[in-house]
Amino acid sequence: MSDRTDSLMEGLNIGPGTKTAKLATESTSPAKLASAIKTFPAASALLRSTDVLQSGAGVSESQPVDEDRMTLFHLDGERHRKRRAAVAPFFTLRAIKDRYEPIMEATAESIVARIASEKTARLDQMAFEYAVAVAAEVLGLDHSDLPVITRRIRDTINTDPASNRPVKSETDEAVRQFFETDVLPAIEARREHRRDDVISRMLDAGASDQLIHTEVRSYAFAGMVTTRELIVMCTWYMIDNPDLADQFRNSGPQVQLAIIDEILRLEPIVGYIRRYAAADIDLPGYGLVRAGTSLTIDVRKANTDEAATGPCPHLVDPHRAATKTPGSGYMSFGDGPHRCPGAQLGLAEARAFLDRLLRLPGLRFVEEPQMAWFKPIASYVFLDAVLAVD
Ligand code: HEM
Repeated sequence: MSDRTDSLMEGLNIGPGTKTAKLATESTSPAKLASAIKTFPAASALLRSTDVLQSGAGVSESQPVDEDRMTLFHLDGERHRKRRAAVAPFFTLRAIKDRYEPIMEATAESIVARIASEKTARLDQMAFEYAVAVAAEVLGLDHSDLPVITRRIRDTINTDPASNRPVKSETDEAVRQFFETDVLPAIEARREHRRDDVISRMLDAGASDQLIHTEVRSYAFAGMVTTRELIVMCTWYMIDNPDLADQFRNSGPQVQLAIIDEILRLEPIVGYIRRYAAADIDLPGYGLVRAGTSLTIDVRKANTDEAATGPCPHLVDPHRAATKTPGSGYMSFGDGPHRCPGAQLGLAEARAFLDRLLRLPGLRFVEEPQMAWFKPIASYVFLDAVLAVD
């Protein structure tokens, strides 16, 4: 760590407790919390095991998913490996630099200029619009009218608190509209001319319109809601901690990414990751898990396991993140074959946006951002994060 970073780190004693731990705990059953995997090595071994099946976001052993609704997230084994390999090139550092960075920069520039001129803004809505622009490019959706496609995508997300499904059903009017207005025209255009995007690769693999529609909708929470929460959470941390904001503004991209990574470690957006054991598995420090057991990883606990983080796990310490693989996020992006393919992209998006937003004079929240629990992906969501600037 440089002397400058050392001195800036003094006093950044953020935690323990964090902003979301109470909400996460109160929203989860005591039995699940008690049996959850809480250490980093056991969590990592479980997610890397070849003897587990996916079991979250509306899929479970008792609720099998139809073949035509099997998104990348739902698949396991060879079929998962194949579909994932087909889209992997869209998430490389090269793709981020060449394809998405220009979109991020132009979109962040225009959104932050809007905030500066209007003097107040719903950061949660603006950050969602920004995340939609980038994810739409990954998918192959036309995002030239960004506010309008953002509204249509937002309306497909399931807000029913009792439901385990992250997106509304196909019979819903908003879902039908999104399909007809955005997804079907993109499929038809790619049938004529393939491009470098998820829709084109799914057509190559013979996917039906139905399956493409389902996959595209899964990105609404996988890549858009998550990025929105990351941006709002980081903004909240920086507003609460002016020294951290100063360090962020005065640092280059690597330290900026490390700061975001640390905030994400302490405030994991996906709070619990679930798996189903298809065979007996012996997990280090946890013990034998019998075939047929459903398991939950407590991401907050794994991310503050001193065995993985080193000393003072509740401090925001960019140096800690820098000693790990860049953008590792500890367990916040999962691990093993389902590890978030958009990890580097999400971090790069947050960095490009925050680097502009945090330079606005007098940046503050009008009142503390409101959060709720989004059951389908076991995550916190921001409902109302109103910013003001001078
Ligand atoms: C920025 C914050 C983000 C967070 C915290 C996050 C978190 C996660 C986590 C924890 C998983 C693994 C779930 C599991 O193993 O059960 C995951 C998977 C996934 N994420 Fe992300 N994600 C983020 C951004 C993105 C972005 C920007 C995209 C794409 C544009 C994306 C696309 C996906 C996809 C497609 C999967 C499923 C992968 C698979 O099952 O193989 N994510 N994400």
